[in-house]
Amino acid sequence: MQAQQVPKTFGRKAVKLSKSQRELLEQFLPQVEIPFKTGHIDTADYFECKGPLHLEIGFGLGEYTLEMAARHRDHRIIGCEVFLNGVASLLKGIKEQDITNVRIIKGDARIALLEMFKPGSFDYIHVNHPDPWPKKRHHKRRIIQPETLELFGNALKTGGEAWLSTDIIEYADWMRECFEASDRFEMAPSERRFVEMSAETTITTRFEQKAIRQGRSTTFLRYRKVR
Ligand SMILES: C[S@@+](CC[C@H](N)C(=O)[O-])C[C@H]1O[C@@H](n2cnc3c(N)ncnc32)[C@H](O)[C@@H]1O
Repeated sequence: MQAQQVPKTFGRKAVKLSKSQRELLEQFLPQVEIPFKTGHIDTADYFECKGPLHLEIGFGLGEYTLEMAARHRDHRIIGCEVFLNGVASLLKGIKEQDITNVRIIKGDARIALLEMFKPGSFDYIHVNHPDPWPKKRHHKRRIIQPETLELFGNALKTGGEAWLSTDIIEYADWMRECFEASDRFEMAPSERRFVEMSAETTITTRFEQKAIRQGRSTTFLRYRKVR
């Protein structure tokens, strides 16, 4: 896939930003941003620690990002989000909690995956509660697509994992279908590493809380890159 073939990004880019959100975006973002660029970056240039490298796609308000970062201070976490109010929310959390191991890419994660990262860069890619686009004619807008899995397959190390969650059963089926059709991934076995690292077992984001209120439970899926 080439950058110009990436389908347009759907969903909101921002709603009215408050003064404090604007200040965070103008003054604090440059300290933790990985600016969009064409050409591979050296991720080591952006972190002081050297632990496993994570990419979280569509972090929303950043609750999962912050919790993961606080639990694993030596892990390096890159959050990518198109919704500016969400970026401001994560910035607020980083500042308040004195988090040093999170960097932010503002924009479409698919373009970042295509343009910015060397093959085999990531240990983990996380996608939590992605927009489900329930209408059949909108399924192409879903972030999980065979083409995106190719991007994940390139960006992950062999043995690296994609961690996914959704509260929409039909989207969980779609995720399984896409990953099972790919010869680059296998379902990851349950093992100690997962239980120890797993932020999701106790983190509930705003989207998950809404699902719980509406009586839906969350499906968690993990796939390991095998080639
Ligand atoms: C339903 S929200 C879930 C937010 C968060 N992961 C959670 O669980 O609370 C989906 C988020 O993905 C973001 N998003 C959608 N497509 C994206 C893309 N291509 N790159 C980066 N972010 C994206 C949206 O802006 C939105 O904030």
